[in-house]
Amino acid sequence: MIPKNISKITPIIGLQWGDEGKGKGVARIASGLSKNDLIVRFQGGNNAGHTIWHKGKCYVFKLIPSGVFGKAQIHLGAGMVIDPIAFQKETTTIPSNIPFLGRLSVSPHAVLVMPTHLILDSISEKTKGSRKIGSTGRGIGPAYTELASRSALRVGDIFQNDFQKRYEALSQQHKKILHNLYKYKINNEEFEEKQKNFFLGVKFLRSLSIVNSADLVEKTLSKKNKVVAEGAQGTLLDVRFGNYPFVTSSHTIASGVGTGLGLSPAFIGGAIGIFKAYTTKVGEGPFPTELGGKKSAIWCRDKKFPYEKETFPNPNPNSKNEFEQGIALRRLGSELGAVTGRLRRTGWLDIPLMQYAIKINNATQLVLTKLDVFDEFKKIKVCTSYIINGKRTTKIPFDLSRKEIKCKINCKYKSFPVWKGKLSDYGKKLPKEALNYIKFLEKTLGAKIIYIGTGPEEHHCVERYWR
Ligand code: GDP
Ligand code: IMO
Ligand code: MG
Repeated sequence: MIPKNISKITPIIGLQWGDEGKGKGVARIASGLSKNDLIVRFQGGNNAGHTIWHKGKCYVFKLIPSGVFGKAQIHLGAGMVIDPIAFQKETTTIPSNIPFLGRLSVSPHAVLVMPTHLILDSISEKTKGSRKIGSTGRGIGPAYTELASRSALRVGDIFQNDFQKRYEALSQQHKKILHNLYKYKINNEEFEEKQKNFFLGVKFLRSLSIVNSADLVEKTLSKKNKVVAEGAQGTLLDVRFGNYPFVTSSHTIASGVGTGLGLSPAFIGGAIGIFKAYTTKVGEGPFPTELGGKKSAIWCRDKKFPYEKETFPNPNPNSKNEFEQGIALRRLGSELGAVTGRLRRTGWLDIPLMQYAIKINNATQLVLTKLDVFDEFKKIKVCTSYIINGKRTTKIPFDLSRKEIKCKINCKYKSFPVWKGKLSDYGKKLPKEALNYIKFLEKTLGAKIIYIGTGPEEHHCVERYWR
């Protein structure tokens, strides 16, 4: 039986298409945690790119929880897919004066991403042509496919005598698929090098503490310590409840905390939902509020940042041309993929989409990031409803059939004036224009905004109702 007054795990979830600023949010929360508290990742792998600025230096975490600079225990949970090469490499990015290996543990149930998964990921994307998803190419989809087809190698397997044999059999199987189905020829020299690093990564994993996620979380909660679950990706990228098929391969929503850690729903508390003051998306798929619409989608798919910078050296954030305005938003918000460096598509905040995300995650508290990015804008627009097939609706269009997704979605907007000067210069007292915007969001979204991001660094934030 689960005790009645059990403490609950707090999911921290992205409410949009990822890159909402979860890394910074988790790092902020982690700084208030003690050595007996716990931060866990419960899904995804190194498709995530969580940026934090710590003591003037920028770090991008992909597998290691963003709270590593705090005191809390950190855990890579059962629902994750772990690339041992990427993981080992990432651990070397943490400064040597931050002892973290003694606080780090990994679930035996997490799935291993193999070198052949990375090749399968990029080849299958290439062959999809115009139907591609825009995957990060980190082998995430193939690794989760392996889990579903019940042939995956998991962290616990690395301690078994037959691990090498099983690895080779599976790797051979992948090579056959690559050869027979995709006519792909592996560069043996390159592959051998990757494989060598894979086994070095496996050796590193063997040296770590391997702990059952559910046992660890339950033990921590039973001692009245705090547990925070750091989400990766965002709600609209959830494999089932995002805008399928333009999604990742895991459950990114708060329910994923239960299945990703092996916990009963009784342990899952209200989520902290993180969202940007606007919307971004990397990869393919519909994006109703995208500035510049289809032109922007194609541009971001095909162009690289240096080309965009040369073509638009000074994009005007108040341009009447929405495509240019989208570029200005990308430039001012530094919206380049933290993992792949791709141009992130940009658009206005989408309230129906946020309402969907808040509901599905039971987000009881909100974190608003990147409000400062609007410093040079004259007005902020927010989409309050859609017009689909001539009808006004607040229902998100992604539950519709694929045919309907292709229909034209028009957005109805509400505008807000922007403050004078820089938001960060106002310190902890936000200007009235920013407060008006925040109050509108709280009222429309039905949850308190507990933290507002006013810049990328640790101290760039205004806390409200912070416990
Ligand atoms: P995550 O994947 O959700 O952790 O987000 P990313 O790290 O991929 O992208 C968020 C980007 O916004 C990073 O470059 C952060 O440094 C930056 N960032 C986070 N919060 C703020 C903020 O409030 N203002 C500004 N200007 N940048 C922010
Ligand atoms: P964080 O945690 C933004 C997107 C990819 C692609 C789709 C599938 O930093 O918010 P995948 O490699 O998972 O098979 O790609 O999902 N995607 C992300 N977009 N932020 C992320 O992570 C993402 N992880 C995956 O661009 O469209
Ligand atoms: Mg990111």
